[in-house]
Amino acid sequence: FNSSLEVNDRLLKICELLETNIPHYNWVGFYFRNGNKEELKLGPYVGEPTDHTIIPFGKGICGQVAVSNQNFVVPDVAAQDNYIACSITVKAEIVIPIFVNGKNIGQIDIDSNTPDPFTENDERFLEFVCTKVSEIL
Ligand code: SME
Repeated sequence: FNSSLEVNDRLLKICELLETNIPHYNWVGFYFRNGNKEELKLGPYVGEPTDHTIIPFGKGICGQVAVSNQNFVVPDVAAQDNYIACSITVKAEIVIPIFVNGKNIGQIDIDSNTPDPFTENDERFLEFVCTKVSEIL
């Protein structure tokens, strides 16, 4: 049994570590499926507060990943039509799903103020982070 307070503490630490140590990670947060609803709910994050604490499945980059079960790398957010803007400073975004027992239960979402900063190294590294996260939930 993992108390959600302990889990949220650890998730917040992960956000802080990533945001502090990786210069092109400027907003780092977790979204999780909200119960059995077809929507995501914002979990621990670091960076500017966002109004988008609930995101319906299919909406925005995050909502699309909830449906596709695939990584989504966005080199230029201005080129996306299904995108939810949180801050005008954001240039790029990466979202990696988190799987528990093969089910997509949430995701890590990272915004960058640098244009086109994400490589396959970010994808492999963040997949590793998401696997570790799935083990503490
Ligand atoms: N940009 C995201 C919304 C979440 S914010 O980046 C924190 C999206 O399009 O789903």
